[in-house]
Amino acid sequence: MPDRSTKFTGIKFENPFLLSSAPPTESENNILRAFEAGWGGVVTKTIGLHPVVNVVGAKAKFMRTTPDDAYVSMKKRPGAALHSSWNWELISDKAIDWWVPRIRRIKEAYPSRVLIASIMAGSGNDKELRNWQTLANACQDNGADGLELNFSCPHMDRKDMGSNIGKDQGLCSVVTEAVKEVAKVPVWCKLTPATSDMVVEAAACFRGGADAIVSSNTFPSLPMIDPETLEFEINVDGKVSSGGLGGPAILPMSLANMARMTNAFPDRPFSGIGGVSDFAQALSYFLLGCGTVQVCTAAMLDQAVGPNVIKRLNAGLDAFLEAHAADGWKKVEDFRGARRDRVVLQSDIRRPDTSDYQGGYEPVEGYAAPEHATARVS
Ligand SMILES: Cc1cc2nc3c(=O)[nH]c(=O)nc-3n(C[C@H](O)[C@H](O)[C@H](O)COP(=O)(O)O)c2cc1C
Repeated sequence: MPDRSTKFTGIKFENPFLLSSAPPTESENNILRAFEAGWGGVVTKTIGLHPVVNVVGAKAKFMRTTPDDAYVSMKKRPGAALHSSWNWELISDKAIDWWVPRIRRIKEAYPSRVLIASIMAGSGNDKELRNWQTLANACQDNGADGLELNFSCPHMDRKDMGSNIGKDQGLCSVVTEAVKEVAKVPVWCKLTPATSDMVVEAAACFRGGADAIVSSNTFPSLPMIDPETLEFEINVDGKVSSGGLGGPAILPMSLANMARMTNAFPDRPFSGIGGVSDFAQALSYFLLGCGTVQVCTAAMLDQAVGPNVIKRLNAGLDAFLEAHAADGWKKVEDFRGARRDRVVLQSDIRRPDTSDYQGGYEPVEGYAAPEHATARVS
């Protein structure tokens, strides 16, 4: 029997697959069903100090595309395949007091499964930083195995919250440090892809003491405008705001971000998110250096908590370990990062003739060629 177990940031997982912070983990009942289905861990829907109120109507929808015209739309059509999820859902509409007894009960029912509490507060002043500490203490004192700091929610107007923290390396460090001051359990930081180079914010989180980086939340995006009604496919009173894109569409971009970070910090723990529905996608994250993988969109579309998704992920991992037994790969740790060093600079990719590479520069008459192009003129 292949060994699915893994240790990540010191926490023991029965398998490396988690439901990410989102509707699948918004209630006690969902989380219990998820553990029953076999998920190794869950990250709770993000918990704040105060209740929040969502927009009127749908908080999330799914975009599909058709093979003949590649039309992307939320409209349901026969034969269309999933393209992405789109959401403008805020954090949990239940505040910390609602969550505390539930975290305790869930951990009592499933002590060997991992429950990570996702938390979020502001960061504009000392009082806000203390709010992070209050949330952290409440969750860990009631049994949470770890904390995930939400530096990534793309729907916050406040400049000191959600992805606005994740876009600011100073805030990333300060908030992580504040939580680490009180944390008795591992602290993971979940980043936004809406920044020019996530390596900068990952570095800032590590400087603040983060035990792992989680990448990533959804990508900023708008729904399509219906060509007939000229209305956004999801709107309230005709209005829309930027929402978050998840699912298959973000997989390649999420992998690119992950590769940049794992190459910058090869010895640090990373949890991969974005477009995972089957083992093939999870494998890409492992091979790039992730120790665990998280899932949202695919689980939402599979009985709300992904019982078939986790079955496929576990079966895929078993089959992969069996197929690679001869390579000595007995656990995820044995092949984690095995393809990380394949992501290189453009100049390191072979050409028919190495001397053909000019790096985008034109040789200037009368001057020596830039260093990268010396082969060309020598
Ligand atoms: C409806 C919805 C709600 C979400 N809520 C949260 C949240 O409260 N906290 C958080 O960190 N991420 C949240 N996310 C982001 C997901 O956890 C995940 O990072 C993202 O969907 C990408 O993963 P996927 O491609 O598997 O969907 C939410 C996503 C969706 C679709």
